[in-house]
Amino acid sequence: MADTKKTVQLSIDGKNYDYPVIEGSEKEQAFDIGNLRAQTGYITMDNGFANTSTCTSAITFLDGDKGILRYRGYPIEQLAEKSSFLEVAYLLIYGNLPTVAELTTFTKEITKHTLLREDLVKLYDGFPRDAHPMAVLASVVSAMSTFYQDSLNPKDPAQVQESIIRLMAKLPTIAAFAYKTSIGQPRIYPRNDLEYCSNFMNMMFAVPSEPFQVRPEIAEVMNLLLILHADHEQNCSTSTVRMIGSSAANLFASIAGGVCALWGPLHGGANQEVMEMLQTIHNDGGDVDKYVKLAKDKNSTFRLMGFGHRVYKNFDPRAAIIKKACDKVLTTLNVKTPLLDIAKRLEDAALKDPYFIERKLYPNVDFYSGIIYSALNIPVNMFTVMFALGRLPGWISHWKEMNDSGTAKIGRPRQIYTGPTARDYTPLQARK
Ligand code: CMC
Repeated sequence: MADTKKTVQLSIDGKNYDYPVIEGSEKEQAFDIGNLRAQTGYITMDNGFANTSTCTSAITFLDGDKGILRYRGYPIEQLAEKSSFLEVAYLLIYGNLPTVAELTTFTKEITKHTLLREDLVKLYDGFPRDAHPMAVLASVVSAMSTFYQDSLNPKDPAQVQESIIRLMAKLPTIAAFAYKTSIGQPRIYPRNDLEYCSNFMNMMFAVPSEPFQVRPEIAEVMNLLLILHADHEQNCSTSTVRMIGSSAANLFASIAGGVCALWGPLHGGANQEVMEMLQTIHNDGGDVDKYVKLAKDKNSTFRLMGFGHRVYKNFDPRAAIIKKACDKVLTTLNVKTPLLDIAKRLEDAALKDPYFIERKLYPNVDFYSGIIYSALNIPVNMFTVMFALGRLPGWISHWKEMNDSGTAKIGRPRQIYTGPTARDYTPLQARK
């Protein structure tokens, strides 16, 4: 962050106030209003924080107008093509691409911790069989702070490191156990001879009664999807993780909150909604124009799920990579689905429509990911869990950046109160 020596002047009630302009490494500028209330008595109002930065961050850069996304400076396109998810996780969390030795140690540590404590596993039998796996994920992650009490202190770097490794190692096991429990199959324990994605797929789809082998193409496309979801700067779930962590809450508790925030259909839950929407359109005869019209109708609550983004106003670079991968994986796995055709026709129709053009609404990361997940046999209610597996290193890196900074303050927004002004208590019998 550079001090630009520039200031922005605000004129309030005839008095002028100067606020320093700070500049990021990509020349984004902000004026720092840290003293605004003390100096002027005013606060700012910014619905949905659309114009507010609450921190500086050196993790992810995105330019929504140009469709740029970089993790620690590396373009997402290069990472998607050349990297592995654990390498990207290391990059996000520790700031640099790992050396061979660093990646070997990181991978070994994670592999060593993939098992869950047996008494933690018993929790799964207490949830209803039809519980949403995101609810189970959030609950079990939260419960980690009861089982791993030796790694709760955010001020002890060794404990923080232990909790990072535990989360990275156990989240795939937690997720796969949620799925196996929901379908009444025996839970498949992790296999440490398999790499990260193959191990997850094995826990999802193997059964004890017969041999099972994960196809390398499947592990490869999962690796790609996890990389594309790994971080997206101050999105809703990441901001939630930062907000919880700002109270000095432990990492498990903070990540559990992130899982809950991700679940919402306007955020990570959109991938499930996209698939359900495509299925509805298919069942309804495949008339995409009808649904484009419905999405524009202000009297309807229907939105084109997987379309639009708070920040991307040109294209979502992740969606472009996923669309290509989608075509490839469906061909490789010889999967034929009418939903891909509907998705493509829907995209074409929306991109030609003035409503979507004027509002700069483009397909986002969730638009095609569900079609890939389905081709991998991942059930629809597990889609957002897949997103969570990918986003985990992003959440961790933001929590760690804030925790390590030494300058973070507890998150505590202000409000403009609009309720009743002071009034006297009326005794119950006297109320009308
Ligand atoms: N379908 C129809 N209209 C839309 C859509 C959509 N998907 N998205 C935005 N609009 C309209 C909206 O009605 C508004 O119109 P008007 O100006 O006439 O009132 C205008 O576009 C601006 O929308 P907004 O809701 O003010 O924009 P936002 O930045 O607050 O919301 C969004 C961003 C992603 C929540 C929204 O575009 C949306 O609901 N999309 C569908 C859900 C979705 O795909 N979410 C995944 C986002 S990417 C992955 C992630 O972050 O998890």
